[in-house]
Formats: sequence, C-alpha cells, structure tokens
Amino acid sequence: MPVFNFLTQCVFDSGALIQLGKLAKSRGITRPFIVTDAGIKASGILAKVEDALGVAPAGVFAETVPNPTETQAKVAAQLYKESGADGIIAVGGGSSMDHAKAIGLLATHDEPLEVYAADIGGSKKIGVIPPLIAIPTTSGTGSEVSIGMVITMENGRKETFAARNLIPVIALCDPDLTLGLPAHLTAATGMDAMTHCIEAVLTPTINPPAEGIGYDGAHRAYGMGMLQRAVRDGSDAEARWHMMMASYEGALAFVKGLGGVHALSHAAGRLHHKKLHHGTLNAVFLPHILRFHHGAADDKYARLRSVMGLKPGADLADAIQDLNDAIGIPKTLRAMGLAEEDGPGVVEFALKDLAHAGNPRPMSAEDYEMVYTTALG
Ligand SMILES: [Fe+2]
Repeated sequence: MPVFNFLTQCVFDSGALIQLGKLAKSRGITRPFIVTDAGIKASGILAKVEDALGVAPAGVFAETVPNPTETQAKVAAQLYKESGADGIIAVGGGSSMDHAKAIGLLATHDEPLEVYAADIGGSKKIGVIPPLIAIPTTSGTGSEVSIGMVITMENGRKETFAARNLIPVIALCDPDLTLGLPAHLTAATGMDAMTHCIEAVLTPTINPPAEGIGYDGAHRAYGMGMLQRAVRDGSDAEARWHMMMASYEGALAFVKGLGGVHALSHAAGRLHHKKLHHGTLNAVFLPHILRFHHGAADDKYARLRSVMGLKPGADLADAIQDLNDAIGIPKTLRAMGLAEEDGPGVVEFALKDLAHAGNPRPMSAEDYEMVYTTALG
C-alpha cells in the first residue's frame, strides 16, 4: 500500500537568510554549532550567516571535506558536545549538510555509525538528533529536506543513512546564496537535481504527488532552460531561484526512491582519492542509464519529454547528453579520472547500494558493467 511522507518546513525566497535568527529561536536554538566548509568561509557567506543569526555561535566547524567522512564526523561530534551547543546550523552543499546530520547523530547516539546504515535496517535505531537548520549554498543535493545522508566510512564503503529524524527541522533556502557559485559547480550540482527528478519519476514506487513534483523540477531545470541560464550567467537571480526550487523539488520527489545512476555514482564516489563530484558522476551516467531503461517506462518517458519541452519521440538520453555538452560536463568517466580497473569495484558497490532497488528494469552485475564500460568511453 502506498505510504506518503512529506517532510519539513521550508522557508524559500531570495533574501530569506535574514530570517535566520528568528527561525533559530523558534526551534529553541540559542547556542548553535555551525557546520560548513573552507570555501563558504572564504566566500564571506559564513560571515553573512553569523550576522543574520544575531547571537554568537557556540562553535564553528568550517573544515568539512567533500564527500564527508566518518572520521571527520567523529571529531566534529566531540567538538559539538564540548561546545555546549543546543542545535546545529549547516551551511553549504550536500557535504556540509550530510556532515551536520552525521554530527547530530554521533553526538546523541552511542553505537558506531555503521550500525545505523539503511541497508542493514539501521534507520529504526536513529532517534532524535539536535535541531538542525539547513542552509543550502548550491542547488542540487536537496539534503536540506531529505531523510538521507551519505558518508564515506572508515571501512571504505560509501554508506547511505535514511531516517525521518535526520530531516532538518527547517530548510532555509535563499537562492541569492548561490549567485557566486562558479559555472562548473552550478552545472554539476544542477545535474544532481535533474537526476533526482528523473530517477525519482522513473522508479516504480507508487507515489503520484512525489512523481508530479519530479516532473515540475525537470520542467524548471530543463524545460524552462534555467540550468543553462544559471551556468551561462551566475548572476541571473531568476535562474538561481528556479534551480534552487528544482533542487528542493528533486529531494521531495526522491522520497519515492532513486535508481541506477545514483547506485553507480555512490559506488564511484567512494573512491575518495579521485575526488569525483557526485553531480558530475550523475550527469555522465544519466544518458547511459536512460538508454538502458528505454522501453521499461514508456508513459513516464513520454511525460518527461513533454515537461522538458522535447518533441514526442525525442531521445531523452540524447537530450541529456546535449545538455551535458552545453554546460561543460566531461563526456566520459575516463575524462574524470576513472579507468577500466575501477570497474569491478564500482559494479560490486552499485549492486549493494540502496538506490539499486529503484531501477525501473532490474539491473544485473553484467548490466552495470556494460553501462560502466560505455560511460568510460
Ligand atoms: Fe544525488
């Protein structure tokens, strides 16, 4: 039987950051611990957040690494506890927001992080974490409204965690915070949002409201041309507004599930030393997975064509490849630094990934291998 969960409070508009102090107070946060990264600090956004807050934070952790790690979350959770903070404010992209969730979890739970992983039924062990306000500074991940976090573990796996208690109590979405995002990150994060919308639509779970939201996100990003506009001109406030909405919508849609693109991207992204961007991986895998699933969800492909403004019968995979080319996404995995010898590990971990279950057509090890080899180029 379908079960629908819709998520959390979202305060959304250009300039919304100014409300941070009031919102934090409304959730009982008087001594926040801020989690962010060095880039956000250097850009001046951290200072703006502290201004908007109006009170001194109990602590600031501004060293979050891309693809956040268990090792770092343990250190930061200890700092959180020592700071006497009563809540967390995450400022940044998916890495900072997921890292903040992991800090909240580790600061309030005693068992090792791996015990809470979704694929071994750990979700039900995740109790209440400190109140978390998420302020995204990219438009892609949707972590500000999602039940999920993805952490690179000390055992080498890239693990997905999912629980209602990991949802931020407030998503404070101010598209103006993305105005300075460089073109290549706008493109990569935007393709993460686009992939969330498409994979969420295609996954067979029955959830028409979430599916409808996925179509709307794809319409904004592709049909209205907002992703290309935001990449072409980072100061285009209207395009930034629509891309942040598409990102938010992507995460509302993927309560349905995801699919093979994310299974592969998580599996490749666990190769930390290669520094592969999650959104760029999605962008490269997406056309190949769309070709693989062609014919498995005809009605949904037709509706996606329609909301994306494509001709009936147009090839969705080609359309995404053209978009990738237009916004400067690398054409192949090889161009990103992957090679033949990475293939078996990527296939092995893709099969174990939570998103694997969402494919509209079941995928075997051979299928993933074929997609990997083709995408490698
Ligand atoms: Fe994603």
